[in-house]
Amino acid sequence: MNFSLTEEQLAVRDAARDFAQQELKQGVIERDSKMIFPTDQIRQMGELGFLGMMVSPEYGGGGMDTMSYVLAMEEISKIDNSCSVVMSVNNSLVCWGIEKFGTEAQKAKYLPKLTSGEWIGSFCLSEPEAGSDATMQRTTAEDKGDHYLLNGTKNWITNGTTSAVHLVVAQTNPELKHKGINVLIVEADSEGINLGAKEDKLGIRSSDTCSIMYNNVKVPKENRIGEDGFGFKFAMKVLSGGRIGIASQALGIAAGAYELALAYSHERTAFGKEINRHQAIAFKLADMATDIEAARMLVYRSAWMKDQGLNFDASSSMAKLYASQIAMKHTVEAVQIHGGYGFVKEYHVERLMRDAKITQIYEGTSEIQKIVISRGIIKGETQIPLTAGTAVHH
Ligand code: CAA
Repeated sequence: MNFSLTEEQLAVRDAARDFAQQELKQGVIERDSKMIFPTDQIRQMGELGFLGMMVSPEYGGGGMDTMSYVLAMEEISKIDNSCSVVMSVNNSLVCWGIEKFGTEAQKAKYLPKLTSGEWIGSFCLSEPEAGSDATMQRTTAEDKGDHYLLNGTKNWITNGTTSAVHLVVAQTNPELKHKGINVLIVEADSEGINLGAKEDKLGIRSSDTCSIMYNNVKVPKENRIGEDGFGFKFAMKVLSGGRIGIASQALGIAAGAYELALAYSHERTAFGKEINRHQAIAFKLADMATDIEAARMLVYRSAWMKDQGLNFDASSSMAKLYASQIAMKHTVEAVQIHGGYGFVKEYHVERLMRDAKITQIYEGTSEIQKIVISRGIIKGETQIPLTAGTAVHH
């Protein structure tokens, strides 16, 4: 495993940093406060290539590796997590899923528009009664010969109101349980789709999350991804990759809060010296820097494993579990270091603290990540190079 970054990867990181600082920072407080979807910012992200980073250039993507993607995700997440969640879902769940498992026709039809930002995608797995227990899908996709008839309700859908393309997980054959599940590419302007109200959330407030109701929606057979019954495995596989994106988002939140707290600790004096000269603050900064560096290593390792074609299921769960824990912990500390200033919107850290919470919930709660990690360890399927010394290819 080699963590030295290439010139290209560093250039991507710097471009994302400049974009976030110059284009996303301005207005982020107002967008968050008023729940304004970042339409112009997402359009710019599409133009700059941040929405289809890993997709092959043949389909309009950047042809980059996962390492470049996590570097960009971290920088954008330091500033605006409503933008970085759109970026994560579009890149790792929707585009990666279609490119890896879709047909040639599906790739040619959907990827160029999804990578350019003309279209945004959403991943529709969660339901009112199926969150962590993802096999319990109540949405049905009845096989009608040349098409499926889709019925059901999806909940908590990121990009719910803005996505033009939904990847919908639905049950076709209930007696086969999870082996009867399919994933369909559904175009948002299909007849029979109704959207719920935009959720009023604690964090990532300008991203649009809503429920989606499908009522006798006709979906052509050619829009199914993979063989009949492949849907649950598809969902699990893309979520493993998605968790690397959310881990890098959590890392960015923690790192962004740390950078703000460090800068403030130099500016602010108390009892005759900069507050970071007091051990109470200095030790907080030391803990933050150490945990962020550890999270960064887990995120990089997971990205590296994916790029190497290794089994990264447990690795991405470890990265997400740890990075989201420290994002929550250290955004609280960043607010504490800022004192009263940390409690007001102008100083940005309270927003990062609110944003951190969702990283412990979406794309699998922390408890689900522990299920994935422990099963991998117990079954002996987990490839952890540093602890097991083995590297098994898929
Ligand atoms: N790759 C391939 N196959 C996998 C897999 C993986 N990573 N993980 C599981 N599978 C397969 C298993 O091998 C098994 O297949 P067989 O029956 O053929 O052997 C099948 O899937 C069922 O697996 P399990 O028996 O492990 O299933 P389970 O019901 O015990 O639970 C779980 C699995 C890991 C808990 C899963 O349900 C899960 O990940 N739940 C969380 C769902 C989640 O992350 N939701 C987030 C919503 S999406 C979101 O938040 C996006 C957004 O908008 C931001």
